[in-house]
Parts: sequence; C-alpha cells; structure tokens
Amino acid sequence: MPTPAPFPPLPVEPPSGCPFDPPEGLARLRLEEPLSKVALDDGSWAWLATRYADVRAILGDQRFSSDTSTPGYPVSGMTGGSPRPDAARGFIRMDPPEHTRLRRMVTRDFMVKRVEALRPTLQRLTDELCDEMERVDRSEHPVDLVQALALPLPSLAISLLLGVPYEDHDTFQRLTGTLLSRETGEEDRGPARAELLAYIDGLVRAKVAEPGDDIISRLATEQHARGELTHEDLVAFAVLLLVAGHETTANMIGLSALSLMLDPETAGRLREDPSLVRGAVEELLRFHSIIRNGPRRAALEDVEVGGRLIRKGEGVIVAVPSANRDEDVFPDAGRLDITRPNAQHHVAFGYGIHQCLGQALARAELQIVITTLLRRFPTMRPAVPVEEIPFRTDMVIYGCHALPVTW
Ligand code: HEM
Repeated sequence: MPTPAPFPPLPVEPPSGCPFDPPEGLARLRLEEPLSKVALDDGSWAWLATRYADVRAILGDQRFSSDTSTPGYPVSGMTGGSPRPDAARGFIRMDPPEHTRLRRMVTRDFMVKRVEALRPTLQRLTDELCDEMERVDRSEHPVDLVQALALPLPSLAISLLLGVPYEDHDTFQRLTGTLLSRETGEEDRGPARAELLAYIDGLVRAKVAEPGDDIISRLATEQHARGELTHEDLVAFAVLLLVAGHETTANMIGLSALSLMLDPETAGRLREDPSLVRGAVEELLRFHSIIRNGPRRAALEDVEVGGRLIRKGEGVIVAVPSANRDEDVFPDAGRLDITRPNAQHHVAFGYGIHQCLGQALARAELQIVITTLLRRFPTMRPAVPVEEIPFRTDMVIYGCHALPVTW
C-alpha cells in the first residue's frame, strides 16, 4: 500500500489566489482518488472522502458511527481530543438509539416555525449592534466586524435560547476558542474543557433551583425531573448547543461579509433585491464550507462506497469543502453565484441523521445580518489589504480572527 498523504492534504494556508478556496490538494484528490487514505498526526490513518456523492453516501449511512469510542474512529487532530465514552461528549458523537432519544428532546426548539418567531428579536439585536458600530470613532481604529457583530449576534441568540447570562460570554468565548484551536495542546485542552464543564455545571444547578423561560430550564424541569436525563446529560446538552451555536455562525457571518465586500456587483444585486438573500445564504454556505476538519465516522461493518471497500473498524473523514466544490453537482463551483439553482443541496450542514440541528437559526441570522449590513453600510469595505486579514488557518472552523472594516 502506498504511504498515505498527510491530512489535511495541504496546509490550510490562505492560497496565493482566493483566501476562500479550500486547499488545492482536495480538488486533485476528488478527481484522481476520491476515496484516499490519509495519515493522521498520531500515526494512524483514515479514509478521506472528497466527492459529493460519496460524502452523502457516508453521512446518510448508519453503518458509519459518530461515536468517538467506536474502534477505528479517527480522533487524531479533533478538537475533542481523545475518545470520550461518557455522556459529556454530547449527542453529536452518539449513534441511535441514544442519539435519536436525546436529539428529539430539543428538535422542536430549533424548528423553522420557532426560529421564524425569533426573527424580530434577531433583527433587533442586529440593529442594536449596528447602532453601536455607528457610534464608534473610526478616525483612530477601524471597526473589527468580528468583535462588533459576527461573534456577538450568534452568541446573544444562543445565550437567550439557553438562558445563559450574556455577561458570561467572555468566559465561554475564551474557552471555546481554546478548545476549537488546532494549536491547543492536550495540556491546555484538558483544563479548558474542565473549566467549561464546571461553568455549565453551575449554570444547570442554578436552573434546576430556579427555572426560567429557556431550553436548559425546560430540560431541567421536564426531562431531568422525570429521570429521562441525568445531570451529566443536561450539562453535555448545554455545552454542545453553546459551542455549536456561536463559533460556526460567527465565522460564516465574517466570511460572508468579506466576500460580499470584495464582490461589489453581487453585493449591489442583493442590496437592490433583498428577496435574493435566501438563495445567497445557501450559496455562501456552499462556497465557504467552514467545517474543515470533518465530520468523521467509523465503519461498524464492511461498506462499499464509490467502488471502494471500507472495512469494519476503519475511520472516515468527510471533506465538506471539497464535496461542495464538486463540479459534477455545482458547475463552475469556484464561483460565488447567488442565483445558483441548486445551491441549497450543499452539505455545509452535513447530511443524514446528524444534519445540523441549528440550521434554521443559522440561516435566519445570516439572512438578517447580510440584509442589514448591505442596507445600513452600503460603502463598507475592508480597512486593510486582504493579505493582512488574519484567516483562521489554525482553527478547525475556518473564518477570520479579525475583520477590520471602514465605510
Ligand atoms: C451538527 C455545521 C450552526 C447545532 C452540525 C454538523 C455540521 C454543522 C456539518 C454535522 C456534524 C456531523 O455530521 O457529525 C454548522 C454550520 C453552522 C452551524 C456550518 C453555521 C453556519 C449551528 C447552530 C447550532 C448548531 C447555530 C445551534 C444550536 C448543531 C448541533 C449538531 C450540529 C446540536 C449535532 C446534531 C446531531 O448530531 O444530531 N452542524 N452548524 N449548529 N449542529 Fe451545526
């Protein structure tokens, strides 16, 4: 067997051309060896799936496990680190029937209907953050769009839903930042994880004692009280929703705003016809594909995918950015086309039973932010050359660490 190439196939450096493009090595693999073996940091290897059809086949097949303790699961280089057989890993890393049982408890909170009712609140929060941006004296420093809007909006939204005091956002942003960095060593990851769990543990205890009108309180008073959820499950729920709910959308907001600033023609079309925003958000999700390190699975049985046999106990990494640039499905895939007819078929939210629970919320936040920014700041532009923008090449979720803007 040839020696597997290291994963990621190329460093996730901003390429010399477009900073939004996934590593070039992925495109080559997709054409030449769509299921290839890649070497991981710990000396193990996994399959890397780069073609759209194979990615959907794997994510849609329950013979592939999401449980990190399944033999062969490729844990190396993941943010969660070592396998966690305990409930604290959250249902994103569980298989049915446990996954189904737990996910069902919060499905209704994130349904389209619920999120639609939240829109006026999301719009108000966005407007307030934009008001604050307008008040900043930009003569000395440009505004950092990440700190001013991209991070606080999803953070405020998920804090509100879960009943987490927003005053604590510095704490959990610092901790999730450490946990999601590829450069954090296990010596820092362990304490950060412990601190986050301790913080959430305290919060859950406070909700059990004095419930409010939020998801954690409801889970505490209904499912926990009926014995359907342990205290540990409840903490894991809160950690999963809090972490998944803000870093992801925040990075999509930053990248979306930047790509529209760099493409005034598209921005102009969208400003003139805001009804295009739904399609535009699907296309931005496809184009940016911020999840660059997974999803990952382990085969529970021998499974044939795309003419290759993946054996029981072998690990698989799914390359979402590559699947979303597959020319067989998205012609001229490297172009941002906000009226692309099938953009919504992207796999940016995954596929199958683990498909993103928060997708309706993420979509609503993105649609509202983009429309509001285009309307209120029609001349907004990067305040530094693009080469000076710090892209998150060190993180498992791609985006910008900071985005200095002016108008
Ligand atoms: C799952 C992406 C926003 C909560 C996922 C998965 C992806 C993803 C790819 C599948 C993981 C897998 O198959 O192993 C994104 C992107 C987002 C986003 C790109 C923003 C643009 C959110 C938000 C929430 C959220 C706002 C809020 C609660 C979750 C949860 C899961 C999940 C709980 C696990 C679902 C399950 O295992 O059944 N997300 N997500 N996500 N996401 Fe998101």
